[in-house]
Amino acid sequence: MRKQIVAGNWKMNNDLAQTETLISALKAQKNTTGAEVMIAPTATNLWQAYTSLKDSKIEVIAQNMHFAESGAYTGEISAKMLKSVGVNTVILGHSERREYFNENDALLAQKVNAALANGMRIIFCFGEELADRKSGNEEQVVGNQIKNALFHLEAAAFKNIVLAYEPVWAIGTGETASPEQAQDMHAFIRKSLADKYGNDVANETSILYGGSVKPANAQEIFSKPDVDGGLIGGAALNADDFFAIVNAF
Ligand code: PGA
Repeated sequence: MRKQIVAGNWKMNNDLAQTETLISALKAQKNTTGAEVMIAPTATNLWQAYTSLKDSKIEVIAQNMHFAESGAYTGEISAKMLKSVGVNTVILGHSERREYFNENDALLAQKVNAALANGMRIIFCFGEELADRKSGNEEQVVGNQIKNALFHLEAAAFKNIVLAYEPVWAIGTGETASPEQAQDMHAFIRKSLADKYGNDVANETSILYGGSVKPANAQEIFSKPDVDGGLIGGAALNADDFFAIVNAF
């Protein structure tokens, strides 16, 4: 059975005091489902978050990392550094990283390799832009993003990979893909995995949806057979909203 996951991507929000406040509020919430819950605070607060949550069921994960082990990469953070503060999962390929920091498929393949080599789990994000969808190219774009960054891997690597389909036009816009649009794309992604790696990998890999998931729409999106959870941005900054989404399963 593949895992159900709800991960909160805090992006560049919350300083240390705000992180502590939100974590206290999260600890007071109840997960009434079998879904795994993760939060991704900003890098400076990972250790604090990990320390506060290490006896809870909420996993602290990172928003990004560099591919090199160490060295002259000013401002960057390695897998080993993340692991040293208790972080074993990293989000890679978020559309904001692709758009604002020029992360492309080739660079992301290097990051994927580095994370896996360090025994980390990855939430790998991808998704088409509005123009791609308008011109009917969404499957081609998404298919290429997955192929270029992941399909050099052995099947066994997928034990440590979670996929997150996030149509760029739905991120932070209030615009959500309809549950049917999400399901159609997730089914396409699962079929691409099956064609490349066989049914076991396809059926065991969790595929999350991200893009304006809210308490009001989570249940319908999560009810789709190929949607295994969500990557949540804005709504993850409020403990009640975030857990309403978790408990929508
Ligand atoms: P959003 O962000 O929920 O605010 O749309 C999702 C994401 O970027 O992961």
